[in-house]
Amino acid sequence: MKAVVIGASGTMGSKIAGALERDGHDVVGASTRTGVNAYTGEGLEAALEGADVVIDVTNSGAFGDENALGFFRQAGRNLLTAARSSGVEHYMTLSVVGADRLVENDYFRAKLVQENMIRSSGLPYTIVRSTQFFEFFDGIVNAFATGGAVKVPPIAVRPVAADEAASSIAKLAGESPQNAVIELGGPQTIDLIDLARELLTATEDSRQINLSPEAPYFGVELSREGVLPVRQTISGQLSFHDWLSRSMAG
Ligand SMILES: NC(=O)c1ccc[n+]([C@@H]2O[C@H](COP(=O)([O-])OP(=O)(O)OC[C@H]3O[C@@H](n4cnc5c(N)ncnc54)[C@H](OP(=O)(O)O)[C@@H]3O)[C@@H](O)[C@H]2O)c1
Repeated sequence: MKAVVIGASGTMGSKIAGALERDGHDVVGASTRTGVNAYTGEGLEAALEGADVVIDVTNSGAFGDENALGFFRQAGRNLLTAARSSGVEHYMTLSVVGADRLVENDYFRAKLVQENMIRSSGLPYTIVRSTQFFEFFDGIVNAFATGGAVKVPPIAVRPVAADEAASSIAKLAGESPQNAVIELGGPQTIDLIDLARELLTATEDSRQINLSPEAPYFGVELSREGVLPVRQTISGQLSFHDWLSRSMAG
């Protein structure tokens, strides 16, 4: 199977391309640094030639970027057009669990638009919505820092290791298109405050952590379950605790 990963130099793209190679697939990694620009369309046709599967893991730049909608709309349109004309049999993308509940945030709304374009494209597809990756919690917790304290909303999370998510996505790429949204998450639901405490303790960060019922999650007011999967069908095995211990051990 020939798989083209668009965004292959990125955090997830590099892991997914690696997992596809380990699974024995013929992988083409593309991004602007290989002359393939999903936003302008440059190099797309050549990159997708003979592809069985396309996995779009491009990103719009900084998280929370207001230009996310413009990026995902234009890149999605170009990618879908190129995939259709090269006869791609399976179109995949990585989205976010709760994207449909987080639409007040520009970035998550853009991800939902990206998903909807794929759903209505007529191409056979699999959309993988993942929960947050363990690797991102440093940034997530810091997003709730105010002054010398960290004030987190009372929400629960079900995070997963990025490597496990990448392996699952590669595996799905080798299967038939699901023509559905697949939810992928970790093995445990944890209150964000407990995860934040464990992370700060492990990194010897002495900032105080408090619950702040008024703190929105990236601009969105959520219930405790707001970013949890509704029907998680793929689960990572590694717990946050074990991942953190391994990361700290170097
Ligand atoms: N569920 C979740 O929590 C979750 C977590 C992570 C990611 N995701 C999704 O997965 C995707 C990838 O995230 P990431 O963190 O891996 O992103 P990232 O590290 O920022 O990587 C983005 C990739 O896109 C490429 N790129 C950017 N603009 C491009 C363009 N115009 N044409 C072609 N390639 C372009 C970049 O390479 P160049 O700079 O070489 O072009 C890079 O390879 C995102 O859509 C994100 O929403 C979801």
